[in-house]
Amino acid sequence: MQDRAVKEGFQPLKKASTMPTSPRAPPAPPSVDELRIGDLADLRAQDLSKLYTFAEDREEIYISRLREAVAIKGVSAWVENRPKIVEMLEWAKAWAERLGAAEARFVENPKKGEDATLPPLLLITFAAETNLPHDKVRTVCAYGHLDVQPAKKDDGWDTEPFELTETKDGRLVGRGASDDKGPALSWLWVVEAHRKLNMKLPVRLKLLYEGMEEFGSEGLPEFVAREAVPPQPRFNDAKREITLDFKNAGWLSDVDHFVISDNQWLAKKTPCLTYGLRGVAYFEVIVSGPAQDLHSGVYGGSVHEPLNDLIHLLASLRHAPALGGMHHERIRVPGLLDDVPPVTDEERAKYATLDFDVEQYNREDVTGAQLENATNEKTLMARWRFPTLSIHGIEGAFSDPGAKTVLPRRVSGKFSIRQVPNMTSARTEALVTSYLESQWAALGSKYALEVKMVHGGPAWVSRTDHPNYVAASRAVTKVFGKPPDLTREGGSIPVANWLADATGMNVLLLPTSASNDGAHAQNEKWDKVNVTNAVKVLGTYLHEISKLVGPRPALCKCAPPTAEDLAKPGFFAFAKGFRCKCEL
Ligand code: BES
Ligand code: MN
Ligand code: MN
Repeated sequence: MQDRAVKEGFQPLKKASTMPTSPRAPPAPPSVDELRIGDLADLRAQDLSKLYTFAEDREEIYISRLREAVAIKGVSAWVENRPKIVEMLEWAKAWAERLGAAEARFVENPKKGEDATLPPLLLITFAAETNLPHDKVRTVCAYGHLDVQPAKKDDGWDTEPFELTETKDGRLVGRGASDDKGPALSWLWVVEAHRKLNMKLPVRLKLLYEGMEEFGSEGLPEFVAREAVPPQPRFNDAKREITLDFKNAGWLSDVDHFVISDNQWLAKKTPCLTYGLRGVAYFEVIVSGPAQDLHSGVYGGSVHEPLNDLIHLLASLRHAPALGGMHHERIRVPGLLDDVPPVTDEERAKYATLDFDVEQYNREDVTGAQLENATNEKTLMARWRFPTLSIHGIEGAFSDPGAKTVLPRRVSGKFSIRQVPNMTSARTEALVTSYLESQWAALGSKYALEVKMVHGGPAWVSRTDHPNYVAASRAVTKVFGKPPDLTREGGSIPVANWLADATGMNVLLLPTSASNDGAHAQNEKWDKVNVTNAVKVLGTYLHEISKLVGPRPALCKCAPPTAEDLAKPGFFAFAKGFRCKCEL
């Protein structure tokens, strides 16, 4: 927090003695009931049934639009397809314009200079349609990605991956249907419904679409840092008050709440809000041998083999299953588990309340994979709160059909570690590198080894008593008739951290995809029911946000709490997710 205060120039403001400091005493820890969010009576009074009926009536139209979007093969990993990503973004931009966006523009990718194929970012703003003054109307920014993972029919798809196919049992099968085109584009249909129904958009809605997420979001952290530059507080002598100067402030600087619909429910039918993600540290280990491939019959026996040595090295990363214990306990990198937080009783109690059944998970979700753990609790802990180390592949090794007798000259192994809170990429990189180098020396390879961390991102967690979560919880309850489960997630959405760290604002994960949607896999699908559910729940969320009372977090003029503040006895239990005490 201190870093952020310095970066944003809040520190001098706090020190200047001529300026009034906040007279507010640190409030007591919040309870959800006490949050200043308007009461349940007007939640019931608000009539969104028009919106719901409209969304249901338009199901087929939404599906045909999703079909158009899925047909655009914007696979970020296929460099030759990068123009397709631009086409996809243009499609979304044209829709925003048709819906009367106040702003819909491309911004050049900050890394374009280094890589000319990088698509731009798409920024869209829909104005709020209320008569309330600026400081009473909140800005919500939804992030989504419109690029997709690679897919080929040959990979084992039942249908053409880029032709959205509706099945008899209510699935919409196609690459990107669930991750993330369906959910990301639903924000546009929420606006459309308001236009057609003559309903007023209750908040300012910003949409941030990118096209490189599945390839590591190149350029996005730079964009976020640049556009998070806050308004400058200035002391107005005449009025004797602080005002905010937005002149040099970034595009993200007026955002009060972030929302991302890009992960999955824990269950197939029970919705959830997600408050935690693991981060991923991705490694490549390269073994360089002779100048060219060699015939294994002609040369085998006379030379050391790079692939053999690499396989020994990769095998040393984790103990064999025979040793028993959980996945993380078999990771052999010394020190890697040192910072993993211990399990508390409070945490343990939460697992039992969730809609999750490991037997069903085995049958229906992991489709016959062998489970590591037989209990619900252990399975969820292994997915959410312990690190994993997974091997993904070997580049340069022979992998085609047939029986080629080759000694590959250069091979590289790819593996990643999912990081949990307290783990840092820098420490993970140092521990992994030093372990692999010592193993390499011990196994006596004659070849050079290079260890690279390709990218690294930390875990992310938010508090769930933040008004952003409370608003979403009400929206979900309203649409689905039951409250959401509160879940964490084993996958990674690095932008959640970038947005939270750069702006200090709360980030909410509001998924609209079922647990078995099969992101990245063959036959990825989005359930037909979720096409309308998404429009309903995202729309309702905006209305719930508009009912929050109290100061807009983005217009807060006080410095975020410092480490010193936090250490004060009686100061509220602060965690990532609240910008400052005014939000409580
Ligand atoms: N939408 C996913 C993340 C996700 C999927 C979270 C399913 C939870 C459930 C996102 O598009 C993704 O694939 N993220 C990558 C991140 C990586 C490229 C840095 C991941 O998790 O592997
Ligand atoms: Mn995604
Ligand atoms: Mn993905």
